[in-house]
Amino acid sequence: MALAEDQRLENPLLAGLPVSRRSEPCALVIFGASGDLTKRKLFPALYSLAFRQLLPEKFGIVGVARSEETDDEFRERMKAAVQEFGRDEFRKDIWEGLAEGMRYVRVEANEDAALDRVAETLTELDRSRGTAGNRVYYLAVPPDAFETIVGGVGKRRSAEGWTRLIVEKPFGHDLASALELNDLVHRYFEENEIYRIDHYLGKETVQNMLALRFANGIFEPIWNRQFIDHVQITVAESIGIEARAAYYEKAGAIRDIFQNHLLQLVALTAMEPPIDFTSDSVRNEKVKVLKSMHTPGPKNVVRGQYGRGYVEGEEVPGYREEPGVDPNSLTDTFVAAKLFVDNWRWADTPYYVRAGKRLARRETTIAIQFKRAPHPPFEELAAEGLRPNVLLINIQPDEGVSLAIGAKVPGQGLQIRTVHMDFLYGGAFRTDMPEAYERLVLDCMRGDSTLFTREDEVTEQWQLVDAIVAAWRRDRPSFPNYPAGAWGPPSSDDLLQRDGRTWRRH
Ligand code: BG6
Repeated sequence: MALAEDQRLENPLLAGLPVSRRSEPCALVIFGASGDLTKRKLFPALYSLAFRQLLPEKFGIVGVARSEETDDEFRERMKAAVQEFGRDEFRKDIWEGLAEGMRYVRVEANEDAALDRVAETLTELDRSRGTAGNRVYYLAVPPDAFETIVGGVGKRRSAEGWTRLIVEKPFGHDLASALELNDLVHRYFEENEIYRIDHYLGKETVQNMLALRFANGIFEPIWNRQFIDHVQITVAESIGIEARAAYYEKAGAIRDIFQNHLLQLVALTAMEPPIDFTSDSVRNEKVKVLKSMHTPGPKNVVRGQYGRGYVEGEEVPGYREEPGVDPNSLTDTFVAAKLFVDNWRWADTPYYVRAGKRLARRETTIAIQFKRAPHPPFEELAAEGLRPNVLLINIQPDEGVSLAIGAKVPGQGLQIRTVHMDFLYGGAFRTDMPEAYERLVLDCMRGDSTLFTREDEVTEQWQLVDAIVAAWRRDRPSFPNYPAGAWGPPSSDDLLQRDGRTWRRH
């Protein structure tokens, strides 16, 4: 019996949930196999899929990178990565099953001929592992390596089977480069063969946004400007930029988080109900939201950069002091904005969004703040401790949903206070949360692109970001403007205070 079914029997709350999510035989080629993503996310995800018997029996992995390594050294390095970063207990039998199908190919930067070696290795895997000419190419490499890989892989498509391409974010650096990249991949691949990753879409809690809204009859009738006062979306991280200065200096918070994760959260919160859950239906609705967002004026966008400060009790350096960062850097590590979705459902309802590094703590939340009751029949004093209703979706950590409501304080008289009705994933399903990459890699292998970003979504996202960044070029910010461990610069609070609102209390 499959292990996943075992777990289901042990856990009655999981009974009846569909288990059959296997893919056809295939080979996964990872370009950038010596990088951080492969080590921290991809291999732990592949191991967890193997652990749950969700990978096809006929499966192979080809790691491609510049470092000098044998197949065995690659296997050992990935084994250590799974042991360090995996969420499941390490089992030798499971690892060995996966490791048998692993190969390594060394390439020089931008070396087209190396793709012949990749193709030969894949043909060998077809023979030895039965991978049937089906390929997933995962591009976990910087964009300057894309052209050689996409062209090389495109020209060498196997005559049998299917070919799919997973492209890591950021997809381009701005609208122009994203369009160029789209042209490049479309020279060799159809849109339905391109899987642009935004790993937030693979998070269980992000997908639950769709379940919450569209599987329950009670939310949708009030999910609009008549009942909702405003929405707040926070993607806060306590970590700094780690060892990613080269990338982050060029990206900043606006390209690293706002352009993709944050705008996708806005789209999922604001979208109309799709007619079904096919990839086009869902993405058609998301893109309509992105199209209906106009560029916020400069007063409605705040940027920040952290200085030295304390995070979780520890002193940490300022952004400009991080290794590899220009000591006069003007890169943003925080961005907040007041956005509007100009359509019938949301007109005049602000979406306040913020994202930043080195904030007080890690927290990704979507808070739907409802309007106050139109006529509370109580004395003003009675309801002093009452805040408006808020539906808080905790994307991470403490995954769950909480509804703030007013309740009578026990005792004589009538005092009303805010209390919370909570749903916590851990408690309700008694299982830990799968990693986003498990879901996304398997979805791609199964040919389901619902949780990937379509070309037109990426274009819309860049349009908004380009317009914001163009306005930034006109003046020089005085950075740093918030200490590490704060919730961004004071101007972020002003953004809401001007409207008589405040960021949700932490
Ligand atoms: C990545 C960003 O896309 O998301 C990182 O490049 C960020 O800078 C990360 O730290 C956050 O992901 P998660 O899943 O930890 O919220």
